[in-house]
Amino acid sequence: MIDFHTHILPGMDDGSKSVEESIWLLQEEVRQGVDAVMLTPHFYAEENSPVDFLRRRYASWKRLSEVWCHEYLSIRLGAEVQYFEGICAIEDIRHLRIVGTNFLLLEMPFCRWTDRMIGDILELNDQWQLQVVLAHIERYMAVQTPDLWEKLRAYGILMQSNVSFFSNWKTKGKAMHMLANGGIQFLGTDCHNSQTRKPNWDLLPDRAKGLLSTSGVNTHLRRLDTDGVHLEFV
Ligand SMILES: [Fe+2]
Repeated sequence: MIDFHTHILPGMDDGSKSVEESIWLLQEEVRQGVDAVMLTPHFYAEENSPVDFLRRRYASWKRLSEVWCHEYLSIRLGAEVQYFEGICAIEDIRHLRIVGTNFLLLEMPFCRWTDRMIGDILELNDQWQLQVVLAHIERYMAVQTPDLWEKLRAYGILMQSNVSFFSNWKTKGKAMHMLANGGIQFLGTDCHNSQTRKPNWDLLPDRAKGLLSTSGVNTHLRRLDTDGVHLEFV
């Protein structure tokens, strides 16, 4: 299993507040059977330039990696990039993709998206060899037009959803339907801390776990460029 969306890096955002908390979160991922974790702190363009963000991320990772060591858990650095107007014009955005991949995890606004926003998603997906993955798509669905998802999929946009989409009885049916029909490519816990937003793979129904192994979800990581990081989990 791959946790594609986490806020485990210490001191980067509203996620983990300390190295100790980050270690706890990683240990919890291992305990719950995860093989690989993408570390995806929030990137807000109004707070940091991409270069400043990368400097901060490196410093945070350095603190964590001095203490964390695990033989089997594969870890990659990335970002959850919040959409902003003009994103397609900022070339440094490409450096925020998940290291060793073309995947750019993109968080969209929680309002109905304008044509410009949708155009930007598609444009971004065509630029700098990026592959856009929309973060926690279940949070946007209620306010978008129903045909939008098919359109985005047809253009090659990939979708990530949170485990909570599957654990909530109100949304579970829809989540399972989407998973079974190829509407979700990645799962993540979007975990933030050791108290209220922990890794929650335990809550993923067995039926969903079964689908994960047969539906090709997460196997998109087979397309990773190998950059020296071992990839036996794919
Ligand atoms: Fe997140």
